[in-house]
Amino acid sequence: MSKILITRRTFQEAEDKLKKAGSEVVIWGEPDSPGYEELLKEIRDTDGLYAHITNQVDGAVMDAAPNLKVITEFGVGYDNIDVDAANKRGIAVCNTPGILSESTADEAFALLMAMGRRTHDLPQLVKRGEWGDFDPLAYLASDIHHKTLGIVGMGRIGGEVAKRAAGFNMEVLYYNRNKRDEEFGATYVSSLDELLQRSDYVSLHNPLTPETTGLMGSEQFKLMKKSAMLINTTRGPVVDQEALYDALTAGEIAGAALDVTVPEPIPADHPLLTLDNCLIMPHVASATDDTRLKMAMMCVDNVLAGLAGDWPPYCVNRDQISDNARIKQ
Ligand code: DGY
Repeated sequence: MSKILITRRTFQEAEDKLKKAGSEVVIWGEPDSPGYEELLKEIRDTDGLYAHITNQVDGAVMDAAPNLKVITEFGVGYDNIDVDAANKRGIAVCNTPGILSESTADEAFALLMAMGRRTHDLPQLVKRGEWGDFDPLAYLASDIHHKTLGIVGMGRIGGEVAKRAAGFNMEVLYYNRNKRDEEFGATYVSSLDELLQRSDYVSLHNPLTPETTGLMGSEQFKLMKKSAMLINTTRGPVVDQEALYDALTAGEIAGAALDVTVPEPIPADHPLLTLDNCLIMPHVASATDDTRLKMAMMCVDNVLAGLAGDWPPYCVNRDQISDNARIKQ
């Protein structure tokens, strides 16, 4: 009987489908994710790993489970999994692409609007009883319509954000490794600097890689308009948070909304949390009931296919392991 380890609680439907397929399903029962040492211990005898962003899955973890054939990430980003190490060992690595693009784009756009129209800070003032007499010059916000949105990383999620922006009559620029077809109604700019200089809102949608770590630092903030706002729904390390704090306090940019931080969770005494022009959400871009359920079922399909000796539907390293794939042995 195959053993599947799920490192966080999951939907009942997902658990049922795995069990129905005849697998032994072990669900990490603690309130917090397994730490690295705990994962090393727990993964022994595992054939299929259903992992989450909080798990560091490196070569040593893979070696602790000599039967491991397939790893699925609950999410589209799988920067917590050492794919090179998996390739060497012939382990299939999978994710949940596409299904969360629209929910993530919805959240990015919600953050953009919250920052632009100040729905993040003005309600607090009302709650504090500080709503003063009508004043034409008070509580001023920024328009969304006819402003320029700069999208960094034009993949599936960036494309969905562009669609939403088009509905608000925004001008949309994008910067991407490759120029894409103009299907998103967005205009390609060939440098990040140009995008930063021209945009009123900058939304990050590139994956986390060694090249994109610290992509947004003090030089980049200095290029942005003083009235501009940054939205980050990709991965925390893409933004240099100290530089962001300095830029927000020095008025180099007007605001930032982050769904992702370093570390996660961000400590309650973090300096960014003291700023009224910074909104932080607890990494929830894909966290809607419908989307999370679909993600869980995609993880189930990945694991079950791999353990049955088939290619998982959302395998990211098929080309790299076609000769030594454990699922085929
Ligand atoms: C993703 O899908 O990458 C989300 O951020 C969850 O990790």
